[in-house]
Amino acid sequence: MAVVVGRRPMRTVGIGVAHHHASATRSGGRRPASRRKGDSGRPTGAARVVLAPLTRQRSYGNVPQPHAILYYQQRTTKGGLLIAEATGISDTAQGYKDTPGIWTKEQVEAWKPIVDGVHAKGGIFFCQIWHVGRVSNNRFDGVEIHGAHGYLIDQFLKDQVNDRSDKYGGSLENRCRFALEVVQAVTDEIGADKVGIRLSPFASYSEAADSNPEALGLYMANALNKFGILYCHMVEPRMVKLGEKFETPHSLRPIRDAFKGTFIAAGGYNKEDGNKAVSTGYTDLVAYGRLFLSNPDLPERFEIDAPLNKYNRETFYISDPVIGYTDYPFLPSDV
Ligand SMILES: Cc1cc2nc3c(=O)[nH]c(=O)nc-3n(C[C@H](O)[C@H](O)[C@H](O)COP(=O)(O)O)c2cc1C
Repeated sequence: MAVVVGRRPMRTVGIGVAHHHASATRSGGRRPASRRKGDSGRPTGAARVVLAPLTRQRSYGNVPQPHAILYYQQRTTKGGLLIAEATGISDTAQGYKDTPGIWTKEQVEAWKPIVDGVHAKGGIFFCQIWHVGRVSNNRFDGVEIHGAHGYLIDQFLKDQVNDRSDKYGGSLENRCRFALEVVQAVTDEIGADKVGIRLSPFASYSEAADSNPEALGLYMANALNKFGILYCHMVEPRMVKLGEKFETPHSLRPIRDAFKGTFIAAGGYNKEDGNKAVSTGYTDLVAYGRLFLSNPDLPERFEIDAPLNKYNRETFYISDPVIGYTDYPFLPSDV
């Protein structure tokens, strides 16, 4: 398997805490004080706003299309992190129509101008991979392992759906084994500093629920520390169901405190609670899904307190290369 991601030097210092993470790893995993106290090392404004992975089903025949160049470029800011939509890495990994792949030469070639478009505007682009086995030669800056939302890896993690009786089922340690083997494999191939993982211990999409999500999240956070991966991206407990926000007493706080690398939180955030989450050290970065989908210039809008475009659910997954995809308006340039 040939896995080469991001031949260019990683500019992950742009995601803010990567720099700290590197030093944290070297100094034996201790988190520098600046991560928690001062703001000196933190990214400001736009760089804290991450584009959450968003499946858009406009990659006809699983091949990324030229219209994605504009879509991702519209959402790029200098130093900002973008996580690409879930991308299949084998023909058996696909579950939905027209989602992109990265397992054929044609797909890999088709991604190139899209990634180049993001880089041309100074963005950092991670590919969210959906099922592990193979990622070939591409220009992405790194890989986010999709361990969330009831898909393959999550099905191993969650005790309500994992009914295996071998070493991948039963105990917490066993259920986490597959995810950690995937992390190990990807880390071995491309280096820990280019690897992130997305997890949703509290979510129950596709019946993939866990009876003790806190313990699961904590176990994973501690286990991930051993790899020194770049980031852990967690979906908020309030996102029990896709697209719905529930009041919950649960918090990612203990999990975040256990994890020593960069932490990204996602799910139901607006500007205010996103800022609060960062300023209180609850997370390093916040990923925005639906708001970023409908506001290509979201970081700028946050910065100047501009009103936001509303998203239209009807066009989330339609095939149109423009409507609901690249036609959400930017702020007028004189605002
Ligand atoms: C249209 C759409 C597509 C999504 N596709 C993905 C995906 O490919 N991978 C993933 O991990 N999450 C996916 N999600 C979940 C989002 O990344 C995000 O966690 C969720 O929308 C909650 O964040 P928000 O309240 O900021 O939108 C998707 C959500 C939406 C609305």
